[in-house]
Amino acid sequence: MSSQIEVQEPPSRRRFYLAGIYGLWALMGAALSLPAAVYLLLPPSVSRKEEWIEVGDIGSLAPGQPEEMTFQRVRKDGWKLITEKATAWVTRVSDKEVVAYTPMCTHLGCAYHWDEKNKHFLCPCHTSAFGLDGKVLMGPAPRALDRYLVKIDGSKLYVGGVKQGDEA
Ligand code: FES
Repeated sequence: MSSQIEVQEPPSRRRFYLAGIYGLWALMGAALSLPAAVYLLLPPSVSRKEEWIEVGDIGSLAPGQPEEMTFQRVRKDGWKLITEKATAWVTRVSDKEVVAYTPMCTHLGCAYHWDEKNKHFLCPCHTSAFGLDGKVLMGPAPRALDRYLVKIDGSKLYVGGVKQGDEA
């Protein structure tokens, strides 16, 4: 019968260095993976709150006479904030009511324009036409013009999110 007695060796210099190296690896791994974990697990810091963008002065806008107004808006693309030009077809309906349509046709997204002669919005791509109220008058467009949410402060017009037009 033999018995083995395990004798614990005192920590050697080799063990001490190995522990140090493993500890450094663990620290480097944590330092590298922490940003990735934050990126994947936490929502972006910029939240999508309702934003109002100033479009311009509508004091001189005549009722029933649409005008294409240009403004700057900031769009978030991944982590980048991009400032871009945007437009809206703005129509004064009454003293207190203004509508602002997005500039894309609801068929395939072409830019339309105001046809002064026929008093309607006309899309040259497939000849969809829309009335002043945004409703489809003719053509393949499946729904009325999309419109921005609007807010008026004095004579300044602000636009917010986009409300999709009703189906034709
Ligand atoms: S894109 Fe306007 S009618 Fe087709």
